[in-house]
Order: sequence, then structure tokens, then C-alpha cells
Amino acid sequence: MSRLFVVSNRVQRPTGGVSANQGGLAVALIAALREHGGTWFGWSGETVAAFTGIVHREHDGDTETATVDLDLRDREEYYDGYSNRTLWPLLHYRVDLSAFDRNFEAGYARVNRRFADVARPLIGADDLVWVHDYHLLPFGGELRARGVANRMGFFLHVPWPPPDLLLSLPESRALVEALFAYDLVAFQAADWLTNFVQFVTDQLGGVREGEEAIRLGDRRIRVMVAPIGIDAAAFEAEATGSAARFTQERMYMSATGRSLIVGVDRLDYSKGLPERFAGYERFLHTYADLRGLVYMLQIAPPSRETVDAYQAIRAELDAMSGRINGEYADIDWVPIRYVNKGFSRAHLAGIYRAALIGLVTPLRDGMNLVAKEFVAAQDPADPGVLVLSRFAGAATQLKDALLVNPHSSDEMAEAIHRALTMPLAERKRRWQSLIDVVRGEDVFWWRDRFVAALEGLPARAI
Ligand code: F6P
Repeated sequence: MSRLFVVSNRVQRPTGGVSANQGGLAVALIAALREHGGTWFGWSGETVAAFTGIVHREHDGDTETATVDLDLRDREEYYDGYSNRTLWPLLHYRVDLSAFDRNFEAGYARVNRRFADVARPLIGADDLVWVHDYHLLPFGGELRARGVANRMGFFLHVPWPPPDLLLSLPESRALVEALFAYDLVAFQAADWLTNFVQFVTDQLGGVREGEEAIRLGDRRIRVMVAPIGIDAAAFEAEATGSAARFTQERMYMSATGRSLIVGVDRLDYSKGLPERFAGYERFLHTYADLRGLVYMLQIAPPSRETVDAYQAIRAELDAMSGRINGEYADIDWVPIRYVNKGFSRAHLAGIYRAALIGLVTPLRDGMNLVAKEFVAAQDPADPGVLVLSRFAGAATQLKDALLVNPHSSDEMAEAIHRALTMPLAERKRRWQSLIDVVRGEDVFWWRDRFVAALEGLPARAI
């Protein structure tokens, strides 16, 4: 296999410590690179007074991380601004939250250029360049402009919305066109690919060439669906390790015989947390006789706290959890334990294993790896039930979860009831089908499929 040169906004440095609120991207890339080796390039997460372009290089086994600091204006315009105030909401179908600001757009373009300037000398002649996520849509084009002829692939971790929504972004056509600098563009689920293809054909006059390719002018790129997975074997092992077992025991002790319903999400409006709380509240109201038999643990480490929409969702959840607990709690029972901090993977594995129900109900999500980790952590002799949003990419693979519409409190309440009363034989049957997918289509399967597709393409003359 060729050497990988991986690029993403967020880089998990070996000495950086595991951040509690890291999303699926960092977790997956650590696993993908650990076995394959290569360089991982991106932002250090540090902000300095003036951009210097100095690269910090660190090694961990066969993986090298190469990171660069951004200046304050870069952070505000590129990361907080265009990435998280403009693209993130838009790509999650939330045009109502999307900010259209020319300074953000300029900052995004500037940082992509800066990244390309710094990365250019680090790329070996035969490296496969693999670029990740919405922060870096124009990055491939910037590398081409600097003479990089390597094979280059792009993977989008988040959804891709229908053309009507994307068109609300004034520069959407240019952004989509920029993706044609890559040789391969991949999405988590077929729906996102369909939306992309429709934009290219209807808005840009591109032509679909069979299942696997699309042409725009003289640029023909390969497109594919490549759902990201987890390191299932490692997570299964983690779930039976001593730290996880200790946590699992702690959960049982504190539950006093009640069944645990668990949710673990970055505190983000796309995760559908108010809707989840409302669904649980509906369950408490509708099934009064089951009330005292359950409790819910929602772990939600804060994320992107400088962005107003994230402050607003946090305030909303504080109010909701307080109101629901005030209304339903008893002297020896609190219906929602709401925790705003992150936990290590071993602790999470123990918490998942202690739970009867995993609630993964985003309003829109590219994949959602919590769903897969919940499945991997279960005890095969007594597995819990996954309640999963139809609007998560994971729903296209995990078909034997209880699929729900997260906007419907009634559906959510019914699914909780169904999971709570589900016979052991059905829980086992559903779990077996889910774990087969989680094991079979794991993070290495995902990496190898992507890398094989990219390696199979001809090198190009630029
Ligand atoms: O997985 C999607 C994603 O946006 C990643 O690109 C990102 O690293 C992660 O969520 C967490 O977000 P952030 O890096 O902004 O904290």
C-alpha cells in the first residue's frame, strides 16, 4: 500500500491527550492510521497572535502528526465562522442557523491556502492524499494549484443536503466545483451521494458516467459511498476490560435495580437532544407504571462553545432537564442524570454495557459512531437495545435497531417502551445482526475500501 498523507482540520496529536468531546473523525483516523502509518496534517488546535506556518512534527509509531497553529482571525473566520456557523448547519439541513458572511468565506479560503502552502513540501511523490471533512472542501484545488499531481481523495464525514438547501449558500456552485480537484469523493450514505450528484448535474451541467463516476467539463472523478466504522475488536475488548467492568458495576450499584437508558453526544443541536428529552418525557407521562423502573443518563460534553447556537442549546437543555426532573423526580429517584463532561473510552464502554437501551437520535448525522460503539460494548448473553434515528447515516447499515423519527416524541416514547419490554430472544437476534455489521464493516474495512479505490485510479497530469 502507498503511504497515506491524511489531512483534517482536527488532528489528534500523540502528546495532545484524548479530548473528551472529540467527534467520530478523530477516533476513526487514530485507528485507521495506527495500522497503516503515514502523516496526519492539520490544525494544532492552538491559536497564536500571528500566523507563522511553523510545523510541529511528532511521531507515534508509524504515524507522524504535522500540525500548524492558526491566528485568532483564522480561528474566528475559518473555524468558528465558515466551518461551524455556515457549513455545519447548512450541511445538517439547518439553513435557519446558517450565517452567510463574506468575512467568513474569505477566512475559509485563506486558511485553506495557508494549509496548502504548509502541507505542500511535506507530501511525498507517491503519497496518497486523503482529505477529510467540510473544513477542507477547497484544499485539494489549492494543492493542485501548487503542482501536486498525487492521487487525492476526499471523504465527507457529515451529510450532504439536497440542492435546494445548498443553493441558499451564495458560493455553493464554486464550492462544489472545487471538489473536482480530487480524484475520488466519498460520502457516508447513498442519500448524500445522490444529493451531490443531483447538484452537479442540475446546477453545474455535469454528467453522471455510470454508478461510479461523474464528469464536469474535462474533469472526471470517482464517487462512492463508504460508511465509516469503528475499531470493533478493540472496543469489544475494552468493554470487558477492568476499567469498563468497574464502571459497569458502578452504574448497577447506583441504579438500585432500575434499567439504564443512555445517550452520549457532543453538545450539538444536530444531535436532537431537546427532542430526545421530550421523547423521554412523553414516555414518563404515557407509561406511568414503568416510570420508576428506568433512569436516563445523558452525557453531553460541551463543544464549539464560542458559537451562539451552541450556547443556546446548552441553556435549553439545562432548562429542560431541570423541568423534567422537577416534575417527575421522587425522593429516591431522578429521571434524568445530565452530565456535561466527557469520559474515557473505557468508561464509556462500561456505561454502554450497563445500559438496557442506547438512545442515538440525531436530527441529522453523517454516520454516528456512538451507535456502533453501543452495539460493540454489549454482553452477547444479555444485550441492550439500540434506538436509532432514521436520519443518521448509521441507520442505512444498522437496520435491526429500533428506527425512530427523532422529531416525534410519541415514536420515541413507544420505542423506549418496546425496548424495555422486548423479550431476551428478540434482543439477542437484533444484536447479532447489528454486531455482524459493526464487525464486518469496521474502520479498517472503511479505510481499505477508500484507499483501494483511490489507488486504483490513474495518476493524473495536472
Ligand atoms: O465528525 C464530524 C466532525 O465535524 C469532525 O470533523 C470534527 O472533528 C468533529 O465533528 C468534532 O468537531 P470539532 O472538531 O469542531 O470539535
